[in-house]
Amino acid sequence: MGNELRVWAMCTSILTITLYHSSTHYSMKEQHVKKVFAQKYNSPFRFFAAPGRINLIGEHTDYNEGFVMPAAIDKRIYLAIAPRETTEVELFSIDFDETVAFDIHQTTDRLPHWAKYPYGVVKEILAAGHAVKGFKAVFGGDIPTGAGLSSSAALESAFATALNTVFNLSINKLTLASIGQLAEHNYAGVRCGIMDQFASIHGKENNVIQLDCRSLAFEHFPLELHEHELLLADTRVKHSLASSAYNQRREECEEGVTILSKLQPGIKNLRDVNPEDVRKHKSLMSKEVFMRCEYVAEENERVKATARALAKGEIDKVGQLLYASHQGLKNKYQVSCRELDLLVDTALKTQGVLGARMMGGGFGGCTLNIVETSSMEKVIKIMTESFQAELGSEPAFYRVNISGGATEM
Ligand code: GLA
Repeated sequence: MGNELRVWAMCTSILTITLYHSSTHYSMKEQHVKKVFAQKYNSPFRFFAAPGRINLIGEHTDYNEGFVMPAAIDKRIYLAIAPRETTEVELFSIDFDETVAFDIHQTTDRLPHWAKYPYGVVKEILAAGHAVKGFKAVFGGDIPTGAGLSSSAALESAFATALNTVFNLSINKLTLASIGQLAEHNYAGVRCGIMDQFASIHGKENNVIQLDCRSLAFEHFPLELHEHELLLADTRVKHSLASSAYNQRREECEEGVTILSKLQPGIKNLRDVNPEDVRKHKSLMSKEVFMRCEYVAEENERVKATARALAKGEIDKVGQLLYASHQGLKNKYQVSCRELDLLVDTALKTQGVLGARMMGGGFGGCTLNIVETSSMEKVIKIMTESFQAELGSEPAFYRVNISGGATEM
């Protein structure tokens, strides 16, 4: 997948490093989706794109009504679509090389996993009382799946945006994001927060989104990293407990709220507690519930501290907060894994890396690193070597740019 550049490791090493530079294959994928639609249907279509996301900081805080700082990236789902007069839908996924058909009024649980997202979006739009008809669509993308970059949210956002436009539904952006989130809850079985869909819809070039997941108020904030860049290091693993553990973490947080709200009325969510409040009541909770609550309260503080550091241009401080976030995710929220920890431990020891942490739901996927541009190749080489020595496989690297949100192109 992607425009793969084989970069021979520097000097004497014979190591091959796989580096995916996304901006160059933007038009390749785009053209390919258009071409396949034209070949398959030989009819006019409209064309949409929706991005994946990174999250600078604020992990597992969204469903606790806390703070997050995601951004859309230049890896996308591209979608060619044409409405029909009937209620029949036909979808072709280029990446899965598979076609699926259903009637919008039909109920089925026999779809392949990828089709549950567009199907869920159609169902949620109908459930919200909007009038849509059938359509034919072809899509493909360059967001690695299972990498924690929210390819599923991008797919939902692409379909939500496309159906909104093609059928003139006038649904606002926030509702489009919620439709994607509900599709995930009700048709893919993950009780995710709003962050991923929100970022895919509201992304802005070179800006992170500072989002309050309670009020859903947000601000775009320019991410100025000066002589640094964002580098994603992909473990290329996704452990199977990812979605069950995700739902379990949500339940543990809810249990914590039930306990804390009995002691302090007014606590509706972990957003309402600070780390001291949680520590004061440690003895009332199970070890797990205590650790989850403490992590969430601390992570919310870290997001606020990151916002302050960014405003002052203190990139070193942002890096330190990323490392601290990872320690919390590893030790208290317990959603990391050996591969992610190894990448972060290596980053910590490598000059030129200001900060690193696992990103997204966890149990695999990518780490996010802030890397000095002049040290980039050296850092990639060191991370590749240590990963290979320890685990016998190579991570993939993506140098991502922050991009705009879902749109018709
Ligand atoms: C997944 C979910 C998000 C969020 C992150 C963890 O990406 O879809 O809603 O909870 O995990 O921060």
